Amino acid sequence: MTDLELMQFAEEARKFSYCPYSNFAVGAALLTCDGKVYTGCNVESSSYTPTNCAERTAVFKAISEGESNFAAIAVLGAPKGEKGKFCAPCGVCRQVLREFCEPETFRVLLGTTDGVTSYTLAELLPTSFGPADLKGE
Ligand code: THU
Repeated sequence: MTDLELMQFAEEARKFSYCPYSNFAVGAALLTCDGKVYTGCNVESSSYTPTNCAERTAVFKAISEGESNFAAIAVLGAPKGEKGKFCAPCGVCRQVLREFCEPETFRVLLGTTDGVTSYTLAELLPTSFGPADLKGE
């Protein structure tokens, strides 16, 4: 799976975005270490707060199906009807990724289906708090 192929999965997932309030459609594609892809889109709510970002949709789908090892996530977003563009994950999604992904090696791919920039999770969420911190490790 190339980075651009993973981004293509994210763009496909954007088509299912439910975003009547922001009109901003986001897609994500999460790659497991054994090559499976879990996609997600943002799902909004008329009471706003319950809105779920595309990244968390993909993560929760994967976790709820027993996955635990993740290599990368591709994300892109834009107003509905336009082609997906660079879309930086929100802080909440970065922290959720931190729960399940190794910060130094997990890659976050941002850009378009024509080109991506690869960041590590540690670059996007430096000096982070994670599961081991609760145990004093
Ligand atoms: N959104 C995502 O799905 N992922 C992000 O990383 C940024 C924001 C969604 C949430 C909301 O439905 C819309 O984009 C506008 O904020």
